[in-house]
Parts: sequence; C-alpha cells; structure tokens
Amino acid sequence: MLVLHGSRGDLARRMVYPGLQALAAADLLPERWLLLGTGRQEHTDDELADVVRESLREHGDADRADALDGHVRYASTFTEDEPGGLVDAIQAATADLAGDDDADVTVVHYLAVPPSAFAPTTRGLRAHGLADGVRVVYEKPYGTSPESFEELDALVHEVLDEEQVFRIDHFLGKEATQNLHVLRFANELFGGIWSREHVAQVQIDVPETLDVADRAEFYDATGAALDMLVTHLFQVAAQVAMGPPAAMDAQNLAAAREEVIRCFRPLDPREDVVLGQFTGYRDIEGVADDSTTDTFVAARLWVDDDRWRGVPFLLRTGKRMAAQAQRVTLVLRTPDELFGEPAGPGRVSVSLAGDGAIDITTTVKRPGPDLALATGTASLALDDVEPGDPLPPYASLLHDVLVGDRTLFTSPDGLRAAFAAFAPLLGPDRPEPEPYEPGTWGPARADALAGPDGWVLTRS
Ligand SMILES: NC(=O)c1ccc[n+]([C@@H]2O[C@H](COP(=O)([O-])OP(=O)(O)OC[C@H]3O[C@@H](n4cnc5c(N)ncnc54)[C@H](OP(=O)(O)O)[C@@H]3O)[C@@H](O)[C@H]2O)c1
Repeated sequence: MLVLHGSRGDLARRMVYPGLQALAAADLLPERWLLLGTGRQEHTDDELADVVRESLREHGDADRADALDGHVRYASTFTEDEPGGLVDAIQAATADLAGDDDADVTVVHYLAVPPSAFAPTTRGLRAHGLADGVRVVYEKPYGTSPESFEELDALVHEVLDEEQVFRIDHFLGKEATQNLHVLRFANELFGGIWSREHVAQVQIDVPETLDVADRAEFYDATGAALDMLVTHLFQVAAQVAMGPPAAMDAQNLAAAREEVIRCFRPLDPREDVVLGQFTGYRDIEGVADDSTTDTFVAARLWVDDDRWRGVPFLLRTGKRMAAQAQRVTLVLRTPDELFGEPAGPGRVSVSLAGDGAIDITTTVKRPGPDLALATGTASLALDDVEPGDPLPPYASLLHDVLVGDRTLFTSPDGLRAAFAAFAPLLGPDRPEPEPYEPGTWGPARADALAGPDGWVLTRS
C-alpha cells in the first residue's frame, strides 16, 4: 500500500502517478495493491481517481489513463493531535489487502509534501502508532542547511530506523546515472582512465531553458544552489568520483559515495563559485522585487583524495539558459604532442537526460593525404540497447521502495558531508548573483571557471 501524502500536489501528478502507471504497464506492481492518497481537505475516492486520470492524460500514457482505476482511495490526513480519516483508512486498507489469508502488507508512506511538512508528518506517524514496520519516503530537499538537516534527521531517527527511510534524489534514480557504474566498473577501457592521471576535468552540466513561473514562490526561497547543487549535482559528482565499492549493494554503494563526499573540499565562494540571476526574474509573480536569489550557479569543486586531487569538478546549472541538457563529461588529458598540435581533448560524455546516451570523442586522422588530426564522436543511445525497456526515474525509485532496495537513495552521512562542503555558500562570503540575459549560458565570469577551453556544452 502506498500512502501518498500530498496526493493532489504537483509532484504527485507529474511524477508519482505516471511512475505507478509505468510500473503497472511493466507488471511490476504486486497483485493486490492500493494507493491511499491523503491531504488536508476532505475528498472522495472518486475525486482523487479523477485527479489521477487527469494526471496520466497530461503526464503519462494518455491512452491508458484508466490504468490505476480500482486501486485509488482517499482519506483526509492526520495532524499530530487528530487522526483525520487516515488512521482508520490505513487500517481498513491493510485488512483488505491482507485478505482471508492474512498476508503481510507492505506500507509505504510517501511524503510528497513541502519540506516544512516533513517533520509534522513524521511526528504524526509516531503519534498515531503508524511508524512500526513501514517505509517512509522523503522528497528533497532533506534539510536546507546543515542545521535544518541535523534537526530533521534527529527527529526521523527518533521515529524510524534508518532501514525504514528512503531519501529521494531522483538524479540517482536515473537510468544513465546508474550506467556510470557499469560504464566504469564493467569496462577496463573506461575504468582504467577514471583518475587524475588521465582526466583533466569533470563537467557536470545541467542547464535548463525553463523559468520558474509555476514554482516562483518556492524557488525564490530556495535558489539554484540549494535546489540543485548541494543535492543532485553533488550526488552525481559523488557517483562519478567514488572509489570502487566492495559490492554493488545498497550499503557498499552508499559507503563509497559517503567516503568520497567526505573528501569534497568546502567550497570557496570567492574563488570557486559564480551565482547568477536572469534578467526579468524579479518581474515574475511571486518573486520579491529585490530578490537576490540565484537562478544560476557554477561551481568548481575539488575532491581531495588520491584519485582526484587537482582535478576540478565543474558543476553548472541554471534557469532560462541557452539549452536544456543533463551531461556528465570527463575531459581527458591530451597526450604528448607527437603529432604536433592536438586536435582537441578526448572526452567521455554521458547524457543523463531521458533514457541516456554515451558519447565518446576521440582524435582520429583526418581523411586525406596528410597526417592531419580531427576529432570524431561516437554515440550510443542507451535505449538502443536490446531489449531496452528503461523505466522513468520515478518509476524506478518507486519500484525500489516497494521491494525495499535502498541502493539509489541518499544516506544521512553522505548528506551531512555534502552540507559541510556546501556550507560556506550559506555564509557571509556568498557572492552576489550576477545578471545574465535569458537564453544565454549565464554570467560571463562562469566561463572562466572551466579554464581556457570552457564548458563543453557551451562550445558544442
Ligand atoms: N514538483 C516538483 O517538480 C518537485 C521536484 C522534485 C522534488 N519535489 C519535492 O516534492 C515535494 C512536493 O512537491 P510539490 O511540488 O508537489 O509541492 P506542492 O504541490 O506545493 O505540495 C504538495 C501537496 O502538499 C500538501 N501540503 C501543502 N502544504 C502542506 C503543509 N503545510 N502540510 C501538509 N501538507 C501540505 C498540499 O496538499 P493538500 O492541499 O491536499 O493538503 C499540496 O497539494 C516537495 O518536498 C518538493 O521539494 C518536487
């Protein structure tokens, strides 16, 4: 049973229902299952079923918008003091699912509610005796500062065992992010070059063309660095930088990620960070007239371990930029100049968008009589790989929660270390966001962070 807190919200509609639909289509849901949606108002089961169908028409497979029909119930949520309709509804749904054979029922609480509601909902679970044996999914951000992270985590561990907790960072759930492991650990061609000896820099570039119109209030209180950098980009950086785990299970992968995040040098906001704000941002409804919120961040992160010392990890993301992409690129060192001027650095580049793709750029001989060099790129679209049936990231994460696999979720020690590296950007040295025109690559100063060759995406 999936108890979905915030069942009429944006995330539920755009991600969770389409994710469940994809699982149903792939036959990955249990034979008997229920979605028990909840929220602060009274609604009927049918009203939520309408919301689900509408969401699938808009964000899922519109031809099968009735895919979750018959599985949807609704009950008003609890507060710490009042059980609402939810406590009885969980009991009734558990009894129905257990059936005559009294089967075990897995109960998952998914907190698709604003972060300010994470603590009250967690306390509500405790107050109403609902915490035992359940799994609880926390959306991001799990804390917005080192202090708020510690506070939330202390409460969560008062109420739940760590094994019950699933903290989402949906970049970790992406098919292509997981492919980074395989690319590296299953291929000596790549595994052998995965270090400072061969890699000159790593770029993790997530430009967005979208603005913030439908989430302006949330965004203005958060900004690009908190929304994206300390969360997704740091986690992807950890995924790239980590040492080989002892095994590919949840515990060992989390340990390997944590170990390398602990080696992230705290950001130097003056030297290594450029913040930006696109022109016109302050005119958006819901944004303060004098807002200093960053809609763009570029950061140079240093990973102080033996594998990566001296190799910059260049992280960039922003709104209203020139292109939309999600790319991890290892820019390789250029070999000695036996051939004169090198044609350009070799690159291994993984697109994390959609089903993912791997591009490998190498130096080759330019066809013709002279020994002249050129670069060429070979691409492998990951959905071309037979039998190629990838799940969307949220479907994959939901599936993992339902089967209890915590491999793709963040751990408290990893988040604690991420906040430690990020913390200087929350202090007095935080740079003023510099203006940039919509449709560009952000403030010019950010280009310089990437060195003389600049950002790969900007050039291509
Ligand atoms: N939307 C996205 O694209 C996205 C992406 C990544 C992560 N997230 C995370 O996912 C979570 C949900 O995001 P969202 O965009 O769906 O948010 P949302 O639409 O603002 O809120 C979701 C639902 O939460 C309920 N809610 C609002 N305030 C509440 C409160 N104080 N206490 C209890 N319930 C409350 C509301 O339902 P009722 O009015 O029915 O109670 C609302 O429909 C957030 O933590 C967000 O950071 C969202």
